[in-house]
Amino acid sequence: MTELPVGIERISFYTPRYMLPLTELAKTRGADYDKYRIGIGQEIMAVTPPDEDIVTMAASAALPLAPYFSSIDTVFFATESSIDQSKAAGLFVHGLLGLPNRCRVIELKQACYSATFALRMAQQIVTNTPSARVLVLASDIARYELGSPAEPTQGAGAVAILVSSTPSLLHMDAAAGIYAADVMDFWRPNYRDAAVVEGKTSTRVYLQALQNTWEHYHEQTGRTLDDFDRCCFHTPFTNMAVKAYQQLLKMQSAPATKEKSDFESTVSPSLHYNRITGNTYSASLYESFTSLLDTDPDDLSNKRVSFFSYGSGCTAEFFSGTIAPDYEKYIRKNEHRALLDDRTPLTVQQYEDMFNLTVPRDGWNYTFGHYRTGPFRFAGISKHKRLYERTEDK
Ligand code: HMG
Repeated sequence: MTELPVGIERISFYTPRYMLPLTELAKTRGADYDKYRIGIGQEIMAVTPPDEDIVTMAASAALPLAPYFSSIDTVFFATESSIDQSKAAGLFVHGLLGLPNRCRVIELKQACYSATFALRMAQQIVTNTPSARVLVLASDIARYELGSPAEPTQGAGAVAILVSSTPSLLHMDAAAGIYAADVMDFWRPNYRDAAVVEGKTSTRVYLQALQNTWEHYHEQTGRTLDDFDRCCFHTPFTNMAVKAYQQLLKMQSAPATKEKSDFESTVSPSLHYNRITGNTYSASLYESFTSLLDTDPDDLSNKRVSFFSYGSGCTAEFFSGTIAPDYEKYIRKNEHRALLDDRTPLTVQQYEDMFNLTVPRDGWNYTFGHYRTGPFRFAGISKHKRLYERTEDK
């Protein structure tokens, strides 16, 4: 019996219309910009204005998929920047986009990993019911303390991924290497707006998880690193992908003729967007994949890609897929490029003012000023209800 192709039919990315060049942050914090640019591998971080949140970012990412809305029967919303302890953020998106009522909507959390679980569940749903279409949303705002070592890795963004049995972009393989361990490398207690992080521990645990998931994947498939034309990693900062690739090269169970110098062709194209948005947590791996599809100079048709997903705490997964022929017809590279090129640079003072502005918690009516956003904005709060509106794309 031939295996039914299931995978990614469309992918769309959104990031806020404001950004902070890290040259400015380095000057204010008295840091050497080369530490950010070379040591960490970041140049710009996306900054979320007060009237943008995970809902508006996810809805803006998903809007270009409108021709498919009537056939969507499941929405998974992956985030670790949740706005409500009870209601799924995806329901606000469901309303804003006018998705069908014959639909299930659920929010998922496990640090940066949850979108991968959503994608794998979507793959199962479509394998069982080939007529189904699943919308996977991943949307996050990465926040650390001002002035902390993690500050230059902040960022924000969302991806919208359509999973179906007509995978015009990526045919997903069934095999996956999985790993979990109870560790405290990065977490955010409910009473905090910014994450707490043990930076050095987190990079060590990330690499351990990579090793374990790779070994599990290799046991099932017998594949080596040479079987992959491109590698996408969860990218909290682009140098983490450098460390990850080096780790794979070192491993006995990944024997390969590939070398360090192959990084340029195998990994670099997937890092362009992350370098200029910062960490987008649950969206980060799929932002890397979008960057690969949009910016790789080669024809990626029929190329096998590996994916490493890591969520602190920690859970990780290594899986793979093959890029579809004709994928170039279905990518949104011009729209993504236009979005990234047309962002308003902020001063450090403006960024700190946005960072410090908190959402009122007293239930009184509150209206946010108009900033630049995508096609949706977070207009205000009334009686503890968040109010969203459609806006002109300014
Ligand atoms: P730090 O202490 O500021 O940096 O924190 P450092 O002193 O270790 O320097 C970083 C690198 O810059 C080093 O290179 C230095 O040598 C180099 P490395 O040894 O790593 O190759 N360097 C320079 N290079 C050029 N010119 C210079 C210079 N100075 C130093 N002048 C850290 C860095 C990443 C730890 C910090 O930013 C942090 O805590 N970030 C947040 C945590 C994180 O992203 N961890 C990654 C793994 S965990 C993960 O991915 C999950 C996560 O996404 C959350 C989730 O799952 O939800 C975070």
